[in-house]
Amino acid sequence: MFEADFWFPPSVNALAAGTDDLFIFILWVTVISMAVVMGTMMWFAYRYRAGQPILKEGVPPTHHLGLEVAWTLIPTAILGVIFVWGTRDYTAMSIPPTDAMEVRVTGQKWFWTFDYPSHNIRIQATPEATQRARIAGDPVGLVVPINTPIKLVGSSVDVIHSIFIPAFRVKKDVLPQRYTVATFEATEEGEYDLFCAEYCGTKHSGMITKVSVVSEDAFAEFMAKEETKSARPVDGAQVFSGSGCAGCHAITPDTAGVGPSLHGLYGRSEPLADGTTVLADENYLRESIMKPMSQIVQGYGAIMPSYSGRLDEDELNALVLYIRGLGTDDGSAL
Ligand code: CUA
Repeated sequence: MFEADFWFPPSVNALAAGTDDLFIFILWVTVISMAVVMGTMMWFAYRYRAGQPILKEGVPPTHHLGLEVAWTLIPTAILGVIFVWGTRDYTAMSIPPTDAMEVRVTGQKWFWTFDYPSHNIRIQATPEATQRARIAGDPVGLVVPINTPIKLVGSSVDVIHSIFIPAFRVKKDVLPQRYTVATFEATEEGEYDLFCAEYCGTKHSGMITKVSVVSEDAFAEFMAKEETKSARPVDGAQVFSGSGCAGCHAITPDTAGVGPSLHGLYGRSEPLADGTTVLADENYLRESIMKPMSQIVQGYGAIMPSYSGRLDEDELNALVLYIRGLGTDDGSAL
C-alpha cells in the first residue's frame, strides 16, 4: 500500500523539476550555518571558561566593521538566492500551462472524485471502486496520460482536505466554498500514492488512492471504457435551466435581463456597484451564486437569492463550468 524510502521518492513531475535541488540547497545552508554558529559558541565556551587568564591588550573591541558587514551581507545574499530560486520554481509548479488538461477534484469524507470535463467522465476513487478496477486490471484512482500537463481544480463537499502526491511534490489544500488549483506533468508511467494530508475525521487515514500515469494510447483506451459506464459529471446546462437562472440571466451577448447577461462573463473585469472591479474567475462565479449580496454588479439591483443550500457541490461545480463556457471559443463543454 505504501512504499517509501527514508529519503524522497524520485520526482516524476516535469513542472517541479527544481524543487528538490532547492530543498537540498536550503538543507546544506542550514547545516553549515549550524556548524559555524554552534562551533564558535562551543569554542568560546571553552576558551573563556571560568578561571582562564584573559589577555586584554588595550581597549577591548566593541565594534568590528568587517564582521558586521559580513554577517549582514552573506545571509542577505543567501536569502536573495533562495527567494529568486523559490519564486521561479514555485511559479512553475503553481500556474498550470494554458494547454493543460483539466481534472476537477472533489474531496469528501472519505474519498476523492475526479471529473474530466473534456471527456465528460467521472471517477469516484472509493476503496471499493479501486478494488473493482484492480480486479478488472484497469488503472486505478486518478488516471492521467504521461507527458501531459494536468490542471487540478479542487473543492470540497464538507471539510478541509488536502491533495498530496509525494512523487509529484504536489500538496494543495482542497477547501469548501473555494477553488484551489494545482498542476503537474508526469514524466514516468507508473502508480503513485495520493494521500489526504489534512486531518478530516475518523477515516482520514483511509482517504488514499493512486495516481496512475499511463501512455496516451492506454489513456484513450481507459476513457473509451469509462464512456460505457454510467458515472458522469453533473450537466451544467441542466442545472442552469432547472434552477431558474434563465429567468434573470441571458446567455446571449448584450441581452439585458433583471440580472447581467452571463455571455462572455468568465475572465472579464466586472465593474461593481461599490466602484471597484473584480476579475470574473471561477471563485467569483462561485461566490456570486452562493453569496450574491457580497458583490453586486454596477447597474443592477441587489435582488438575487442565495443558492447556498439549494445546490450541492456537484451542481455548483457544473454550473460554474457551464457559465465559464458561455461565450468562449471552446464552447459550453468546458
Ligand atoms: Cu480528507 Cu483527510
